[in-house]
Amino acid sequence: MNTMSDDSRKILVWDAPVRVFHWLLVLSFAGAYLTAESERWRLAHVSLGYTVGGLVAFRILWGLLGTRYARFGSFVRGPRVVARYARALLAGKPEHHIGHNPAGAVGIVLLLLLSLAAVASGWANYSELGGKLIEELHEVAGNLMLTVVIVHVAAALVMSWLHRENLVRSMVTGKKTGLTGQGIQKPWRPVALIIVVAVMGFWWLQWQGAPEPAGMVASAAISSLGKHANHRHDDEND
Ligand code: HEM
Ligand code: HEM
Repeated sequence: MNTMSDDSRKILVWDAPVRVFHWLLVLSFAGAYLTAESERWRLAHVSLGYTVGGLVAFRILWGLLGTRYARFGSFVRGPRVVARYARALLAGKPEHHIGHNPAGAVGIVLLLLLSLAAVASGWANYSELGGKLIEELHEVAGNLMLTVVIVHVAAALVMSWLHRENLVRSMVTGKKTGLTGQGIQKPWRPVALIIVVAVMGFWWLQWQGAPEPAGMVASAAISSLGKHANHRHDDEND
């Protein structure tokens, strides 16, 4: 099964922006999905949904400008190549790819497109621009995403087993087994840091702008009434 020659070693394949993008996307998608149904969690849902939108916008840009295996040109393939890959896989002879394999790339492109559809329809919905149809479309986009994610995670596990290489860990460390010349030169950590700071900053702003839950407003009003009744004038900076 191991098709690598003796001079194969751990090389850097996924730059830091791709890895940070991936795991923030996982977190934001999971959070948006889990908060989708409840009115109480609407602001969290919308904020996490916009985060997905921002992350995907960055990824599209990075797919044009990024490092070797991050660029769409290196992994998006036509139907003939995908079919050949699928045939080889079914015949029990999976082709080995250093970057994304052609079938995995189909899932990735689908996830990026569905994310954009979910964010656009969610925004239209929230701004009360669309009707029932947009609401339906939004729900369908979210659920289709979940379906593709389940297949994507299952495929990552199966391919890890077939190639005897932990692909999930590669998405964390960025490293895979390959020949020295096949690796990328730089991890581009400062770009990853900008993504993290931008996302944290956005979450913080949304958190600051959130209205106080009704229960807390009521209890603050009661406690301030109590303070006035006691004629106390100590600092109330909270
Ligand atoms: C715990 C769950 C997940 C695991 C373990 C996982 C694992 C992986 C792995 C191993 C890869 C690299 C595949 C390869 O070697 O070709 C990858 C890529 C990718 N995954 Fe996931 N994934 C998860 C959840 C998600 C979710 C929820 C989304 C989207 C909503 C997602 C979107 C993507 C995208 C867009 C890529 C391409 C990365 C890039 O080139 O930027 N994944 N994932
Ligand atoms: C990846 C991003 C997103 C996912 C996966 C997602 C998923 C979902 C799902 C599955 C529902 C249906 C919940 C139900 O069963 O009722 C929903 C509802 C909703 N989403 Fe999103 N959403 C995303 C982003 C957004 C964004 C960016 C906004 C707004 C700016 C938004 C606004 C809403 C609203 C207002 C509803 C309630 C619609 C109704 O009244 O039924 N969503 N979302």
